[in-house]
Amino acid sequence: MPQTELPSAPRINPSILAADFVNLQADLERIATADFVHVDVMDNHFVPNLTFGPQMVERIQATSPVPLDVHLMIDDPDRWAPGYAELGAASVTFHLEAATDPVALARKLRQIGARAGVAVKPDTPVEGLFDVLDEFDQILVMTVEPGFGGQSFRADTMPKLRLLSEEARRRGSQVWLQVDGGISESTIAQAAEAGADTFVAGSAVFGAEHPDAAIASLRAGAARHVH
Ligand code: DX5
Ligand code: ZN
Repeated sequence: MPQTELPSAPRINPSILAADFVNLQADLERIATADFVHVDVMDNHFVPNLTFGPQMVERIQATSPVPLDVHLMIDDPDRWAPGYAELGAASVTFHLEAATDPVALARKLRQIGARAGVAVKPDTPVEGLFDVLDEFDQILVMTVEPGFGGQSFRADTMPKLRLLSEEARRRGSQVWLQVDGGISESTIAQAAEAGADTFVAGSAVFGAEHPDAAIASLRAGAARHVH
């Protein structure tokens, strides 16, 4: 995606984990005002849940009116992540805990043409990323243990997010800071205040009667606090 077309903060990325998997096309159309559609790939190894793989993501890519933000909760992303960039995902995020060589993988993803993202679970420290911040386009701080939608937001991850945000600012980094898990109208302000600029929301969007209205109010809720 050319730099000029990138949406500005706050970005709202609905997670289709909370969508109706047999009516996905209709649900994708209901979130046409989103910045990206967040696509959770789970392999039943890295997390105890299973969703879908590249074949399904390729169909979502062909169908979605908004670009794809792929979140890989899988083992061995060094091997599998490039395939998601090749099928045209705007961003591909893999887990730091699962990658053998995160920087080499991020470079490969960028070389293919995707934005490169790295994700950390709630209890994974982020200090190791400080010296390589600019190797990534986005850092995803998980605000729940990955694997399932509908869990409660973990406020204990906010100090880590704040640390990352301060470090990015100190270094003049353009890296996006994403949060994922338990984001709702009642939690989005504290994540924005701690430095997040990109917000994944599953149940808060698809559980609403009007997903587009939910996206708009999440965006407004974040905009009041985003730095
Ligand atoms: C959880 C996934 C999330 C999930 C968020 O492992 O990575 O993207 O769909 O769902 P909510 O917003 O319901 O917590
Ligand atoms: Zn996710």
